[in-house]
Amino acid sequence: MTRNLTQTHALFQKAKQFIPYGVNSNFRYWGDEDTLVVTRGEGAYIWDADENRYIDYRLAFGPIILGHGYPPVVERVAEAIRDGTLFAWTVPLEIRVAERVARMTGADKVRLGNTGTEVTMHALRIARGYTGRERFIKFEGQYHGMHDYVLFSTAGAPVGSLGSRRSPINVQMSSGIPEGIRHYVINLPFNDFERLEETVEAHWHELAAIMVEPLLGNAAGILPQPGWLEKIRELCDRYGIVLIFDEVKTGFRIANGGAQEYFGVQADLATYAKAMGNGFPIAAIGGKEEVMEVIGYGKVAHGGTYTGNIVGVAAADATLEILETQPIIETIFQRGQQLMDGIGEILTRAGIPHCVIGLPPIFGLILGTDEEPTDFRDYCGGDDELYERLAMALIERGVMPDGDGREPWFLCYSHDEEVIADTLTVFEEAVKTVKRDA
Ligand SMILES: Cc1ncc(COP(=O)(O)O)c(C=O)c1O
Repeated sequence: MTRNLTQTHALFQKAKQFIPYGVNSNFRYWGDEDTLVVTRGEGAYIWDADENRYIDYRLAFGPIILGHGYPPVVERVAEAIRDGTLFAWTVPLEIRVAERVARMTGADKVRLGNTGTEVTMHALRIARGYTGRERFIKFEGQYHGMHDYVLFSTAGAPVGSLGSRRSPINVQMSSGIPEGIRHYVINLPFNDFERLEETVEAHWHELAAIMVEPLLGNAAGILPQPGWLEKIRELCDRYGIVLIFDEVKTGFRIANGGAQEYFGVQADLATYAKAMGNGFPIAAIGGKEEVMEVIGYGKVAHGGTYTGNIVGVAAADATLEILETQPIIETIFQRGQQLMDGIGEILTRAGIPHCVIGLPPIFGLILGTDEEPTDFRDYCGGDDELYERLAMALIERGVMPDGDGREPWFLCYSHDEEVIADTLTVFEEAVKTVKRDA
């Protein structure tokens, strides 16, 4: 079974003439044979340049919460941009979106941005400006965007390079980062209560922030252990450290109020992007009044030419209105649970050890082990090669998870019952093929 990818390959060769590796984000390069060129999307589906159709579980790395090209969002944007797109003045739509984000997430104050990278970078600056301290803790396997401060020990780090648990090494994920930057970040294993407590006690006087993805959205959706987020909250309170929840993947996806609502822990600052605009560029930092009020002219710098642009805010206005008024996330949970259960049953029948972890709107599948990981180090005990073969067999048959098991499966409202049933049929066939070819 082989797809026709003639047009796709031809376009990709052309892309490589002008764009390094033919992609505008390194994560999109899967090798010369497997990198797709996609021409359109609708609901739960995308099509490549050869008109092969895929049920999409990558959802652009998470932003699509309603469906590709979701008409009410697209129409709101189209309507709004007729009157211009950017004014360098506050517009009514910005006010409405800030109010919605505040109401849905419990933030006192909200500033808007365009991407996750932009808001995690600004959130760190706000925390530094507020505390007068410079270093911060993040956790291994977490990705917070492309700025220099956070490109250490992300999910791309080989586990053998992370050092011992008691003395973790900051693994730099790119050349071009100034040498001194690594001093500002301390990476720790997720869910390691003892190591966290020791580190905070030793370094609190220099710690501006603890930045955490409340679940490991860049490492298969590993969940926080009971009490873990509460422990971080307690240590931040005790030592005057700013708690930043990076909700770029969890925000407006696992609950309308994101991980803060789902896990019942309130951060000082939370960063949002992805699902907030159903695929349009929009992001936000929401936080407590006391912390957010350090932003200002001559105080802590935050801004940008495109912050609050009409395209992004109109999309967020429509997306958040739909999330607030319709049972979107509840429905995604139900259907996602059916999919997780179905996948688990098929793998059990096939005798393949596995765990299906995370939450239905963002879940991970680990093959080759039935021990659930609690941090990125444990996660690396799975059989990545088997996962990749299964993912490729699925893609060949029109079901598209990421080929890399660290990237979770994402669900959206357009994955209806029929789409889930079709996915499970294809999944069963793909498992049989992978077993046969083993
Ligand atoms: C948790 C988290 N934070 C930040 C980012 C960066 O967001 P962006 O790609 O919009 O810059 C990502 C991207 O995947 C993310 O998963």
